[in-house]
Amino acid sequence: MSQAQDIAIGAVRDFWNRRPCNIRHSPKPIGSKEYFDEVEARKYFVEPHIPRFAEFDRWKGKRVLEIGCGIGTETMNFARAGAAVTAVDLSEKSIEIARQRASVYGLSNIQFCQGNAEELTSFIPPGEYDLIYSFGAIHHTPHPERVIEQLRLCSQPGTILKIMVYQRNSWKALQILLHEGHGAFWRFSELVQRHSEAQTGSPVTFIYTPDSVRDLLRGFTTDSVAIEHIFPYRIPDYLQYRYVKLWYFRYLPAPVFRGLERRFGWHLCVNAHFPGRAGATAD
Ligand SMILES: C[S@@+](CC[C@H](N)C(=O)[O-])C[C@H]1O[C@@H](n2cnc3c(N)ncnc32)[C@H](O)[C@@H]1O
Repeated sequence: MSQAQDIAIGAVRDFWNRRPCNIRHSPKPIGSKEYFDEVEARKYFVEPHIPRFAEFDRWKGKRVLEIGCGIGTETMNFARAGAAVTAVDLSEKSIEIARQRASVYGLSNIQFCQGNAEELTSFIPPGEYDLIYSFGAIHHTPHPERVIEQLRLCSQPGTILKIMVYQRNSWKALQILLHEGHGAFWRFSELVQRHSEAQTGSPVTFIYTPDSVRDLLRGFTTDSVAIEHIFPYRIPDYLQYRYVKLWYFRYLPAPVFRGLERRFGWHLCVNAHFPGRAGATAD
C-alpha cells in the first residue's frame, strides 16, 4: 500500500475544511453575491478550459452527479443550465459555502450531500445519472479506485463521465520538483503532494498519465483525454488579484503557449462513458 493510501480520510477532510478550494478567489465578504460572482470570474479567467470541458448547456433537463464540488462554481452552472444536480463533497465547510451560494442565486435544483465519495452509495441512492462530473477531486482521495467503483454503481449505459485529474509529465510538476525540491527527483511524489495546492500540505495528491488514468477508469470506455492548463502568472501579483505573466510566458506567441499547454498542462481532462449502448451521448 502506498503512503498516500495509508492516509486517513479525516486528514483529507480537515485539510479541505481549513481552506476550501478557491475560497480566496475574491477579497469580498464570503457569502455575498459579489464574492461568488468574483470567484467564478477569476476561476474561468485563469482556467478558461473548464466551461468548454463541462459543456454546461448540454445537461439541461439531465441528472448530473458532481463529485468533490468544493464551493460549487461548476455546480451553480450545471444548475443554471437546468440540470438536476446532486453535488457531493467530503468537506462540511465547502458544502456549507456551496449551499449558501445556491441560495444567493436562488437555485433550488441542487441536492447537496456531505460525505466520502469512496462510500458514495452508502449516502446517495445508486441511481442513474446522465453525467458524472468531477474536477480536481478524485486524485485527492486516498483510494481513487474505490470512487470509480462507486461511480460504476451510479451509471447506466451511456452515462457520460467527465473527470479532471493532475498530469504527471507537466510543467507544474517540473516546477515543483525544481523550485520546492531543488531537483530531488527521488522525493517527486511527496513534493507534488505537498505543493500541488494553493495551501501547502495536501495529505493526498495522485498524479496520472493518459495511460494510467485510462487504467483508473476501469469499467468505463475512455473517449478522449485532453491535456490543459499551464498557469502563466506571477504568484505575488496573482495573490493581489493582478494578472502579470512571468517574463518567459509574456514573450511567448499565443499558439506556442497553447502548444505547450496541450503537451505539458497540469490538467488531464477525460471524457468517458459507461458502455452498454451504441454511441456515447446522453441525448
Ligand atoms: C481541489 S478541490 C476541487 C473542488 C472543485 N471541484 C473545484 O474545481 O473548485 C478538491 C475537492 O475534493 C474534495 N474531496 C477530496 N476527497 C474526497 C472524497 N473522498 N469524497 C468527496 N470529496 C472529496 C475536497 O473536499 C475538495 O473540496
